[in-house]
Amino acid sequence: MPPETENQIDHLLGQMTLDEKIGQLNQYFAWGKLDPELIRQGQAGSVINASGALSGQGFSGSGNAEISNRIQGMALETRLKIPLIFGRDVIHGYRTVFPIPLAQAASFDPGLAEQAASVAALEASADGIHWTFAPMLDIARDPRWGRVAEGNGEDPYLGEQMSAAVIRGFQGEMSAPDKLVACAKHYVGYGSAEGGRDYDAGEISEPTLRDVYLPPFKAAVDAGVGTLMSAFLDLNGIPASANRRLLTDVLRGEWGFDGFVVSDWDSVKELIQHGVAEDEAEASVMALRAGVEMDMVSGVYLKTLAASLQAGKISLEEIDEAARRILRIKHRAGLFERPLTDTNRAATDILKPESRVLARKFARDCMVLLKNEGNLLPLNGFRKILVAGNFVHAREELYGSWSPDGNPADITPLDEALKQVAPKDVELRFAAAPDLALSRAHHVDAVVLVLGEHPLRSGENANVSDLGLPPGQAELVAAMSALGKPLVLVVFAGRPLAIPRQVAQANAVLYAWHPGLEGGAALGEILFGLESPSARLPISFPRATGQTPIYYNHKNSGRPVTPNGQFKSRYVDLPNSPLFPFGYGLTYTSFEYATLNVSDTVMRGSLEISAEVTNTGQRAGKELVQLYIRDLVGSLTRPIRELKGFQRVALQPGETRRVHFTLTEEQLAFTRADGARGIEPGAFHVWLAPNSASGLRGEFRL
Ligand code: NOJ
Repeated sequence: MPPETENQIDHLLGQMTLDEKIGQLNQYFAWGKLDPELIRQGQAGSVINASGALSGQGFSGSGNAEISNRIQGMALETRLKIPLIFGRDVIHGYRTVFPIPLAQAASFDPGLAEQAASVAALEASADGIHWTFAPMLDIARDPRWGRVAEGNGEDPYLGEQMSAAVIRGFQGEMSAPDKLVACAKHYVGYGSAEGGRDYDAGEISEPTLRDVYLPPFKAAVDAGVGTLMSAFLDLNGIPASANRRLLTDVLRGEWGFDGFVVSDWDSVKELIQHGVAEDEAEASVMALRAGVEMDMVSGVYLKTLAASLQAGKISLEEIDEAARRILRIKHRAGLFERPLTDTNRAATDILKPESRVLARKFARDCMVLLKNEGNLLPLNGFRKILVAGNFVHAREELYGSWSPDGNPADITPLDEALKQVAPKDVELRFAAAPDLALSRAHHVDAVVLVLGEHPLRSGENANVSDLGLPPGQAELVAAMSALGKPLVLVVFAGRPLAIPRQVAQANAVLYAWHPGLEGGAALGEILFGLESPSARLPISFPRATGQTPIYYNHKNSGRPVTPNGQFKSRYVDLPNSPLFPFGYGLTYTSFEYATLNVSDTVMRGSLEISAEVTNTGQRAGKELVQLYIRDLVGSLTRPIRELKGFQRVALQPGETRRVHFTLTEEQLAFTRADGARGIEPGAFHVWLAPNSASGLRGEFRL
């Protein structure tokens, strides 16, 4: 922050009463029952979900921007005219709904994610929103957890790339009228909830916290994120909203974060339920002192902090510092110069044609081809095709979890979209009900089953104990497969499902996640070969629920599994390996890797790693080349592989290109038992690979 702005903030703080300062720390939720007096008295620094705040109160404005302007007007009537910051969950798009975040991660294309976030910012800001509670950066190793849909999967490196890109897309320079303040959430370790049960406790060792769970948040801070959200969970016995070491020592002390932290919904007050605070006053002091500047909706800061100050439980400096950080972000976001939203913007900025084009491209680039026996896909030469299953008429089901501002009327239902995209000589037939599907299947040349999870089956607190397809669907796949027609299975889901049987029964399998607004057309373009799939799994796909947690960068153990190894780390009823590994995905062509070259046998600062990649198939295609390492001996045990880079190359049939990576010493560093981070000399393996379970291997020493 330029010093003159800090001076302005100090000057403002100097004029504020204690109550006004505490008011800034309060985020107000007032669905249909907004109390104008509370705002006029400066008792709120922020309003969450303002669009519904005036409903039923005789307010005649139509657009959301008019509503937020009306409420902002109340704040501007206060003595010091400090603007409110309006927050909302703008997670994977606003009105233009993009694929769910987990799907976006499957694109391995941070540039696309950045563009999508930028569209979301354009649209949401036109509707009077200043601040989004995204991106969710929680590493997830357990797909039972419903919120796996909202993050970038299991890998810290991919998580870092997506984190920085999405924050750039949302925030840009932050002060522009078409940008949002971003919020990296949920700090930290939220995805480690035991048993995949949302809100439950987690235990993470310090090295794993530092090397796996924290890096996407560090990347967010380095990218200039304005805010973070403290998680609901109890991590290692300390509820996240009371963790001073992580919120203050690490976040501010080590990383230099100068924005503010908002609690998750009610999580300050929930310190009482967690059993670390006796009452609201104690919970408030604990959270504020830990580094939670803003209390999301519980209201306990507003209720108790003044008395706690009087009782000497908290100091004025601590309250000042919290208010200062909030005012700093309001300044940075341009709210003091431009508190109101131009109500004309919504008509032009929301749902622009080019935003839909981007949504369609992104949806295509997120779909992962898992199986393609005999090159069944793209569908070619079939005259009559049956499309069946519970997603046949899908509309808002394509949106996925957290899309409160999507409008189902904007979507072309799946069946309609497929008809629009299919070649003219293809006759498509449809059947949603299993019985009808089976009878119609007799009269067609090929079958596409569109199955999977309703969006409400993933997302916040939508956890499952069984990762199989929802009830009834496995039976349909089996019965359809028994008919012997060429069978394509398309799965819509917010998480990896455990579907080994169905993968065996179908001839081709495409994983479409929840692909957003343009998901139907995007699917058609892939199925009929107008475009080729190129996405990869950002998370391991288990064979069975019992394999979870499952992730590629696990430790070796003293008894790594071997074929038939009786006293090795294994299951007696299943292989250890996933059904599909992290990084896996097919295309409509094939690639071969050859002649791996490591520029030196010893790394001094950095090394060049390269390999030749050839398109050995009949179609043009894109290959995602992945760089992995393994540190063979360390002072702590090391993962069997770690992703350190990826590049996508587009190759024509028969074309060969040498793909180069630079690997640096810094990328070999890890956190040791004493918490210090550094590199250790010794032998390393390095791979250039199409996924985390194969590839060409080389070696070097450090
Ligand atoms: C609770 C969720 O955990 C969080 O992700 C979200 O941003 C807030 N509610 C606000 O809706």
